[in-house]
Amino acid sequence: MCRDREWVQKSLVTGRVAGQERLTGDVYRIRIEGDFLEDFTREAKPGQFVNVYMKDKSTLLPRPVSICRINSGQLELVYRVVGKGTREMSGYHRGNAIRLSSPLGKGFDLSGCQSGSALLVGGGVGIPPLLQLAGELNHRGIRPMAVLGFQREPFLVQEMEKLCDKVLVATEDGSFGFAGNVVQLIEKEGQEKGLAADQAFSCGPKPMLKALADLCREREIPLQVSLEERMGCGYGACVGCAVDIKRDGKIQRKAVCKDGPVFWAEEVFWHAE
Ligand code: FES
Repeated sequence: MCRDREWVQKSLVTGRVAGQERLTGDVYRIRIEGDFLEDFTREAKPGQFVNVYMKDKSTLLPRPVSICRINSGQLELVYRVVGKGTREMSGYHRGNAIRLSSPLGKGFDLSGCQSGSALLVGGGVGIPPLLQLAGELNHRGIRPMAVLGFQREPFLVQEMEKLCDKVLVATEDGSFGFAGNVVQLIEKEGQEKGLAADQAFSCGPKPMLKALADLCREREIPLQVSLEERMGCGYGACVGCAVDIKRDGKIQRKAVCKDGPVFWAEEVFWHAE
């Protein structure tokens, strides 16, 4: 059922910008503080996102941004500037008010994560939610391995290294780490050193997720993927983010914002791009 306008209004919180920095190129990290964080810390699950509402009223739709982590009393969001809304966000300074929703969507299912090994695979701005996930896995006694892919300059690698046993980096232009994409790097690592994991988690562009889903199916590694779909309302009202999911022997249309963004890879109907 779609959430109504009243629910949306009630879920809005106002925070204060504690700081903002450019991580690389057009990727920024904004840190937000405020009383709302007490509830956030209790409720937010790795893989969920928030809607950020712009001050410029000509930007009607909110911008969905994955929760990167809640750290030292601050909510951290990492985003890429891709249009008017995110450009406005990149201009926010310490002390500015910022309006956002409570945590939205379904995050990663960690019910099977009491022990064993985990592989985290991220691409570009799909990496930030894996930081919160790595922290949660650490709390459960699991130090995951991470494979991170970038077009050019890496970001969040040091933060991931603090929470992971091993972090491998691939850049498409070869300027840092392995030259190529994350799936090629995982295949290479697997051939050279053997690579096994009890479960895998991923967020990034769809072609990367699809290739990883094929690889994990071959190796019988259960994989959860967080889909990066274009969103409108962000809370289940506009069907702008619907994807095909195979469930109960049928193809069903599911909203990435409400039913996801995290799905089991084997459930996703991967259309040819
Ligand atoms: Fe509107 Fe998902 S963005 S239903």
